[in-house]
Amino acid sequence: MPERILIDTDPGIDDAMAILLALASPEVQVEGLTVVFGNSGDVNLLARNALAILELVGRGDIPVAVGSSHPLVRAYHGRGSIVHGDNGLGNVELPPPTTLPVAQNAAHFIIDTCLANPGEITLVTLGPLTNIALALRIRPDLPRFVRRLVMMGGAISAPGNVSPVAEANVHNDPEAARLVFNAGWEITMAGLDVTMQVHMDDEYLGGLRDIGNQTGRLVWEITRFYVAAYHSFGYANMVVHDSCALMAIIRPEFFTSKFVYVDVETSGELTRGQTIGDWRRQYRHEPQTHVLTGVDDIAFKQLYYERIATLP
Ligand code: RIB
Ligand code: CA
Repeated sequence: MPERILIDTDPGIDDAMAILLALASPEVQVEGLTVVFGNSGDVNLLARNALAILELVGRGDIPVAVGSSHPLVRAYHGRGSIVHGDNGLGNVELPPPTTLPVAQNAAHFIIDTCLANPGEITLVTLGPLTNIALALRIRPDLPRFVRRLVMMGGAISAPGNVSPVAEANVHNDPEAARLVFNAGWEITMAGLDVTMQVHMDDEYLGGLRDIGNQTGRLVWEITRFYVAAYHSFGYANMVVHDSCALMAIIRPEFFTSKFVYVDVETSGELTRGQTIGDWRRQYRHEPQTHVLTGVDDIAFKQLYYERIATLP
């Protein structure tokens, strides 16, 4: 039976790559997308991106719910466009969507979907955790109804990407992240510890383009801006973040992990947004997070290629 998932996302170039992987993978059934600020401060733009991506591959049937346009407490920092372009998809224009988001906001869509399917739904988060935190504020017992939470976010033993210690999704809303990590559910965390190990160079991305389908061409086109951003940061190749969260569900055997209690710094002047692994149980909390630490990136990229090839 496929694992039924709700994807909370800020699409976003690597989000788009992850959503396409999910839609091409029989191991998961996408029940809906909920959209959150992050790669842009315009959550309605990101929602249009989500709708456009779904329609492009003939999945306009999947509901999209719009969520928070800003963090729980502080203002949005506004730097997502440096990596994802002004329109969130590397300034590549997709055919405008003909479908609309559902009327419910993301938090209520998450609550209603999970309560209607107790223990069946896995929450997959690819952006800041604001929508999940808002759902928890409304229903603190939400974890009782959720199968598990799989996230792209955080950095335990790896350097941060928006500060020396903080990863973007957690840094964008540390208060939300702290609520989510301490809500009582089991978490799988695809943080920078593992995502920085999955590089895609232009030879590989050109291979996706040369599959000959529109999906492969789309991935090539939207990654042009993303690759240039990584080059500007001094990296030889782009890094694939969000697809790691999906691949951890599709092929868990590709990954190694360690089970540890993770908490989030919310007030440190230098450390705000840091995710901290309590390896020696000094905080006296039970572990709740499977921190992904290693990945077979060759097998990952081979399967990613094969799955993209199955889409229109
Ligand atoms: O730090 C990487 C994360 O931030 C990814 O989810 C990317 O899409 C951005 O949201
Ligand atoms: Ca993302």
